[in-house]
Amino acid sequence: MCGIVGYLGKRQALPIIIKGLKRLEYRGYDSAGVALLNGSLEIVKKKGKVLDLENEIGERTLDASVGMGHTRWATHGEPNDKNAHPHTSTDGKLAIIHNGIIENYSSLKKELELNGHNFLSDTDTEVLIHLIEEIKVQNKCTIEEAVRLALNEVVGAYAIVVLSQDEERTLIAARKGSPLVIGIGKDEFFVASDATPIIEYTNDVTYLNDKEMAIIKDGNLVVKNLANVVKTPFIQKLELDLEDIEKGGYPHFMLKEIFEQPKSIRDAMRGRLVSREHHLFMSGIDQYLNRFINAERMLLIGCGTSWHAGLIGEYLFEDLARIPTEVEYASEFRYRNPVIRDKDIVIAISQSGETADTLAAIELAKSKGSLIFGVCNAVGSSIARTADAGAYLHAGPEIGVASTKAFTSQVTILAMMAMYLGLKKGTIPLNKFQELIHGLDSVPDKVSKILAKGDEILEISKSFYKASNFLYLGRGYNFPVALEGALKLKEISYIHAEGYPAAEMKHGPIALIDEDMPVVFIATKDSSYEKVISNIQEVKARKGKVIAIVTEGDTEIKQMADFTFEIPSIADPLVPLLAVVPLQLLSYHIAILRGCNVDQPRNLAKSVTVE
Ligand code: AGP
Repeated sequence: MCGIVGYLGKRQALPIIIKGLKRLEYRGYDSAGVALLNGSLEIVKKKGKVLDLENEIGERTLDASVGMGHTRWATHGEPNDKNAHPHTSTDGKLAIIHNGIIENYSSLKKELELNGHNFLSDTDTEVLIHLIEEIKVQNKCTIEEAVRLALNEVVGAYAIVVLSQDEERTLIAARKGSPLVIGIGKDEFFVASDATPIIEYTNDVTYLNDKEMAIIKDGNLVVKNLANVVKTPFIQKLELDLEDIEKGGYPHFMLKEIFEQPKSIRDAMRGRLVSREHHLFMSGIDQYLNRFINAERMLLIGCGTSWHAGLIGEYLFEDLARIPTEVEYASEFRYRNPVIRDKDIVIAISQSGETADTLAAIELAKSKGSLIFGVCNAVGSSIARTADAGAYLHAGPEIGVASTKAFTSQVTILAMMAMYLGLKKGTIPLNKFQELIHGLDSVPDKVSKILAKGDEILEISKSFYKASNFLYLGRGYNFPVALEGALKLKEISYIHAEGYPAAEMKHGPIALIDEDMPVVFIATKDSSYEKVISNIQEVKARKGKVIAIVTEGDTEIKQMADFTFEIPSIADPLVPLLAVVPLQLLSYHIAILRGCNVDQPRNLAKSVTVE
């Protein structure tokens, strides 16, 4: 999913735009480009990273105080110079950058070709700027009116910025489905896909809603919807600061975010868990307590790592609150004609709060009368604003594409929700509730203890970074951790890895086991410990190499496994918060040893804002 930045003000636009694109590069890094307006439109674009664009610009100053920039994640048209944004109109006087997908672009393209338009790229975006040009010429209207009319003809998702050579000090932005935030400074305006390019300059922002456009002229911001109705923008203060989005001395954002977990988990509990009073405050639940208490079913919806957090949530809600719970892949849920009842509570789990499939899935459930509860990290995001209530993670920006601290914060929130409902419903005995409260309160220190031994994982990684396959196995609460460990390794080291319920192995995957297959077991001392021991023996019998995450003081598995890594003991429902950390480090170190770019892995992007 692409990153877009725009600026209109008194300063030099180029350095602001380039810095902003670097902050958004985690959203896509297939190509980058800028357009600057100073009497005429100056466009420079290049395949590759923002650095390649900077090299392409070279010593040119491109003097202008109005401009825009784009970093691309290719959907339509392969990553190359001609498909890079910005794209221009036939007369070269209009330029556009776009994040999203225009679904009806090919029919629009055919009509425009019949009217003599020629296209230079394979993108859907170029079709939109030609449509805007066609409408502007046919209707002899302003650029803002041409954009409004054109957007009423397109189907799909978009966040766009448009510049027109004939309307010098004007910047047009609009969104539907893809995120867009406007920063309001003193005599200047910033437009971006998220707040990271803006916080350096101002904390005053407004998030555009779906089907809204912003017309920015010197000192003036007008927001209106596509029906031409003027709207009063809701301006809010950002809670972020610059330090949150810097590497803080770490070589990579991913490693910084792994080591931030003691703090981010504590921040997820702040104002909610009061350990000394054995108390939990879940204001989002309190708003709809009766609906939660009388819920017939919980539906946890997400994608990728958020889906894995949801799977742990399923175990937590059934185990602690005795509420029938299902976890759903958003992309399947939205199209499989699911049975949704108004007594269902839908929990939307999303770090970015912008994942298109999750957004569409909850809009579907909402239309069927379900209560939507959002568990999001990005404040002001689309999913957070669509939800009826929710709980923010407060994990701070997560910039590494591979999600780490957001996962442990999601699980912390879901654990507190299940404990809270269990207490309210009387399905959890007070002593167990208090044990879990103390357990949760001890997690940040226990994670610090694990991180302090991180070098042990580096040593283990040195034995396996050349592997071409990995298996991750766990039971109960540790099964979703196995899935998450496998996903982390896949997405940043490009090693094929699978997570499985340990007992499922005998039903197929055991055929994969030989001396070249590393098998990671999450084998902590819980109710299925003995069973996991047998599974380890089955793997060892086929000469598989076993790496086992075990509970401190475990001696039995130490005899069998090739490598063990000890984690502090804690109640079963909370083990995932500890057991995932060494798996995050394992994937990080293996990827580094393989020379991979861990913060910006190939083919991936941080938030998937299109289907
Ligand atoms: C995880 O490391 C990946 N970045 C990806 O699977 C991610 O979890 C998924 O795209 C969901 O993103 P969200 O939490 O922002 O909705």
